[in-house]
Amino acid sequence: MVDFKGIRDFVGDSEGAYPPVFAGRRAELEALSYAAGDTWRRFRKMDSSHLSKRTRIVHGAPGAGKSTLLRELARHLHAAEAETGQPRLLYTTSADFSQNTCKILARLENLARLDADSWRERLKSVASRVSWSANLGPLGASLDSGNPLPGRPRNIGELEDRLPAERWQAPVVLAIDEFQNIAGSPRLPELRETLQSLHEAGFGLPVLLVVAGLGNTPAIAGEAGLTRGLTKIGIGCLEAEEARGLVRGWCRHFGIEPKGHDARLDKLTGSTDGWPRHLHFALQALADGLLGPGVKGRLSEVDWSCVMDRNLQLRLDYYRDQQSPEMRDSAYLVGAVLRGLELDNSRGGVKNSIRRMAGSQLDTRWDLPAGMDVDEFAGHLIHRGALQEDDNGEVMCPIPSFRSFLVERGEPVPELEHKPPAPEPKPVDQNLLRYDDTSDSPSPGGW
Ligand SMILES: Nc1ncnc2c1ncn2[C@@H]1O[C@H](COP(=O)(O)OP(=O)(O)OP(=O)(O)O)[C@@H](O)[C@H]1O
Ligand SMILES: [Mg+2]
Repeated sequence: MVDFKGIRDFVGDSEGAYPPVFAGRRAELEALSYAAGDTWRRFRKMDSSHLSKRTRIVHGAPGAGKSTLLRELARHLHAAEAETGQPRLLYTTSADFSQNTCKILARLENLARLDADSWRERLKSVASRVSWSANLGPLGASLDSGNPLPGRPRNIGELEDRLPAERWQAPVVLAIDEFQNIAGSPRLPELRETLQSLHEAGFGLPVLLVVAGLGNTPAIAGEAGLTRGLTKIGIGCLEAEEARGLVRGWCRHFGIEPKGHDARLDKLTGSTDGWPRHLHFALQALADGLLGPGVKGRLSEVDWSCVMDRNLQLRLDYYRDQQSPEMRDSAYLVGAVLRGLELDNSRGGVKNSIRRMAGSQLDTRWDLPAGMDVDEFAGHLIHRGALQEDDNGEVMCPIPSFRSFLVERGEPVPELEHKPPAPEPKPVDQNLLRYDDTSDSPSPGGW
């Protein structure tokens, strides 16, 4: 039976909502679970030096699925084998962590002291998908209650005084999301000490620190005092098969039979590049189509051209959001930087190309944004998801169709009075039919 209520709820879900079906990321989940279990094994050897410098950094452009990965990790750990200590995950954001450090440490303490039965009881009592969504959701609230010790630890040393290592019932993964924002916290000096303590495991507590954030998170981690021994986990597009599986799994989840609609579903999936946020948009467009008048949840009755238009609209809205005013003002420079990646995609190469091209033409769209130097501009492009450095130090644009969007907008238009010969028609990028910036209707093939 088709779950219309579920589909309607999905349409209303905000962008960062936990998905009804989770796809891919097996290697990342395995690596993180292994690290969490290994924290316990090392802890049991009673040598705190084995616990030091094991922080994991999950990084990726906006919409890559970092927050979703952390939430899925919470589930994954729940099902872990007993000899790993069945790690527990405490999710927080850098904003919460910096404003409510003592409260977060008190939750960490409460999680660590719960015996296995009480932990299972807590989980059962908040067994909805909301429970995984945030530390400040029902699970977080339940961790605030029943703290047998008055007060809250102010730092890791106090946490250890209150709950010495030998009394820990399980390892805890402290996951701090949106870590890039920690750089702007006025409390950074105090936070740096707490983070360093966790990273260096000076008190020998079985805590694995996992921080997640945009592409510049590895650099920000350094500023926050996390140096050496960091393991980076970059995430990006899902594999084509994972994306196909996700769309079919989503249909089945809501009681819709995808069989016999491969061509249409594959076209919808293919338009997303496997980028998680775009897959979410594509599924929202499909959900809209399934709720259309007279459709009654039948894929055969869906108006596919409406679905594809809506899907494209949502995706382009995302690109426009990601293209900051600074990137718009320096559109030609951005376009040239992205085109230049084909020749040299090292970090130094990118900076050299910015340096060479910035201000090289009269048009101000070749200039660096006001007040930004080369490093800040490169950092800005990473922050906006236009560039990402992979774990081998190679720089690329993580979403192919976002690259096409920026490159198209970054192609200098010849002055009209020069009356240039009509350009050769270009092959149309099927994933990115051009939109006129001033209108909301698709205009395939040009402005
Ligand atoms: N592995 C996945 N399987 C299914 N859907 C996913 C997956 N990863 C992410 N999504 C969906 O993609 C969207 C973006 O994911 P998410 O919010 O986790 O990205 P993010 O990297 O945290 O973005 P931001 O940098 O903006 O915080 C969400 O709607 C989420 O439901
Ligand atoms: Mg997020």
